[in-house]
Amino acid sequence: MLYFLIGYMGSGKTSLAKRVSKRSGLPWIDTDKEIEKQEGRTVAEIFIEKGEKHFRNLESQFIQSLDASDSLIVATGGGLPCFNNNIELINELGKTFYLQLSAAKLTERLLESSSERPLLANKTAKEIKDFIEQSLNEREPHYLRSHHVLNANIPFDRLTEEVVKLF
Ligand code: S3P
Repeated sequence: MLYFLIGYMGSGKTSLAKRVSKRSGLPWIDTDKEIEKQEGRTVAEIFIEKGEKHFRNLESQFIQSLDASDSLIVATGGGLPCFNNNIELINELGKTFYLQLSAAKLTERLLESSSERPLLANKTAKEIKDFIEQSLNEREPHYLRSHHVLNANIPFDRLTEEVVKLF
């Protein structure tokens, strides 16, 4: 079974994947890291050199290459479920878990790490806040199609246990 952790940038998908992997013994991957390995450059470089649309196509190709019979935890890039009908595909490939957080909470977290993220780089704090509010509104209908919606604003250990219970 494939287990997909989805949600906005900064919702903790990668950290949770690592923790759930330890707890369950299943291996984990991160789609951004896999695409970076495959392309030999960072996500930020792909955005700059080839554009967002190209990156979205790489994300779709990547999930199409997954084997549904593998046992694997997959932390996806924040935008992956929201383009090219990818949410439908990952819902078919395995179980999906949405780590839900409010725009305010995400803004708080992302203000600290915006420079590593191409969609937030070179924006002021106010622009980041507005961008998160608007794009979360657009994205949430896709995220909400996942099999499980989890409140991610709880202690990390509890969130880990909740996910493992649902495996
Ligand atoms: C993106 C999220 C990033 C990465 C890229 C675009 C997005 O992943 O895929 O920068 O559109 O939300 P994280 O959610 O792991 O930061």
